[in-house]
Amino acid sequence: MIGVVATAGTTNAGIVDDLEGLGAFARENDLWYHVDGAYGAAALFSPTHRDLFKGIRHADSYIVDPHKWLFAPLDCCALIYRNPTVARLVLAQQASYLDVLHEGSSEHYDWNPSDFGIHLSRRARGLPFWFSLVTNGTAAYESAVQCAIDLAQRTQELINECDYLEMVRPSSLSIVLFRRKGWSAERYNQWSHELLASQVAFVTPTKWEGETVGRIAFLHPNSTEEMVRTIIESLGD
Ligand SMILES: Cc1ncc(COP(=O)(O)O)c(C=O)c1O
Repeated sequence: MIGVVATAGTTNAGIVDDLEGLGAFARENDLWYHVDGAYGAAALFSPTHRDLFKGIRHADSYIVDPHKWLFAPLDCCALIYRNPTVARLVLAQQASYLDVLHEGSSEHYDWNPSDFGIHLSRRARGLPFWFSLVTNGTAAYESAVQCAIDLAQRTQELINECDYLEMVRPSSLSIVLFRRKGWSAERYNQWSHELLASQVAFVTPTKWEGETVGRIAFLHPNSTEEMVRTIIESLGD
């Protein structure tokens, strides 16, 4: 075994692994500790949920996809290393025409992003995200992420009040998994297609422990309780 990978917010259900426990295990066993927060690590912006991510401090590397819940254009992944030098030793590509870039003393080394990931050529994908952060400020991100979490929790309350729906598990981060009593997989699919065709919402079914269920993933801060009520009504008879 060379490493441990924890998920900080599964994309299907929003579940955050025990980042502290896995980090301690990795440290005790001298293993690389990577945290995959592609979707969920955006919730580090949430005042109510950031404590869930405390264990990320043990990570040797972690990622968040700003193109998911941080509103950046595809395809932007932020990869952060505790010690980038180690990553460069593993990932920098060697070729005669590239080696000239690495020659000389380390103080002349030019920071080259391609040395820290698997692929070589790439656009400056982080720039749109950086501009957005600078323009909007981190407080805007904090409130946008919190809006989605709050609306997921409100949706859970509305589902619990509804006799034809039930929660599959408690809402996690901005994801709500619910069951429409009596529905088959085909019925969920039909409902989802109709909802999209009528431009009400893009809500797709998923699977939970083998069962087809409904899944609402909140991201946009302007999503409203009214929209949720419309979706809930569309699940009725
Ligand atoms: C938890 C998680 N990890 C990794 C990925 C893959 O990330 P990427 O599309 O940036 O390769 C995804 C989804 O895209 C994801 O949801």
